[in-house]
Amino acid sequence: MSSSLNGKVVLITGAASGIGRATAIKLSKLGCALALTDIVETDLGETAESCHTEKIITAALDVSNADQSELVLKETVEYFGRLDHIFNCAGINPTPYPLLDLPEGYFDKLVAVNLKGTYNVTKAALPHLKEHAGCSFVNVSSILGLKPSKLQATYCATKYAIIGFSKSMALELGERGIRVNVVAPGFIQTPTNASVVAGPDFVKSAEQSVSLGRLGTAAEIADVVAFLMSDEAKYMNGSVVEINGGLAN
Ligand code: NAI
Repeated sequence: MSSSLNGKVVLITGAASGIGRATAIKLSKLGCALALTDIVETDLGETAESCHTEKIITAALDVSNADQSELVLKETVEYFGRLDHIFNCAGINPTPYPLLDLPEGYFDKLVAVNLKGTYNVTKAALPHLKEHAGCSFVNVSSILGLKPSKLQATYCATKYAIIGFSKSMALELGERGIRVNVVAPGFIQTPTNASVVAGPDFVKSAEQSVSLGRLGTAAEIADVVAFLMSDEAKYMNGSVVEINGGLAN
């Protein structure tokens, strides 16, 4: 399916865990060279060891930090000589709170990482992409970027915003041959998924709301991310792909 990705250089944020790690493994199997980044640099080694390539660099990157984003993007291009795709995956999953009970700093942190992080890395990557038609960004929203959720207003706000940002960037960059697409995962079995954190009863009730009767896996998101980067998706730009096993509402 994705042999067009062979030899391409991909930078992934949030690559130390969950969907970011699974996507690194998938892309390595397709022949990509990888820049794996995360705020938790120590766990990037485990991701790198699981990948099927030696063409890998790892770097500490807090996506909420614009200067760090610029530096890591520059170093990536210096190392590999090019950059083809960016997977903006770093993010903080939701914890349910009534608005008046939000912990101090929670709103600012989610906006800084989930939304401004995507902006920072996109902005830092762009100067390095200008000679490369065929490049793309894949950004991560959520089902909660498409429908409201009680007690998760802050997370919803960031994930709705990612869709607006991505669709607008798709219009701005399309004329240069750079595509911007979005994945909107449903309930995915990762260490910080809200149901997984809350325990087995919550996982069971999440599973019951899914037509396929189970949570998704990070690898099932990675498959779609790889497709969106590949030439098979070369006419997809500004698309939001829902990956949720079938949710009634
Ligand atoms: P995860 O917690 O397994 O992975 C997230 C990674 O992002 C972690 O390695 C973490 O260290 C990193 N990270 C956090 N703050 C960062 C920062 N400031 N700079 C750089 N890296 C940072 O979570 P998961 O589930 O794999 O989430 C990945 C993305 O998918 C997130 O954007 C999340 O909101 C989104 N998502 C997840 C869903 C799920 O059910 N797991 C559903 C819908 C969206």
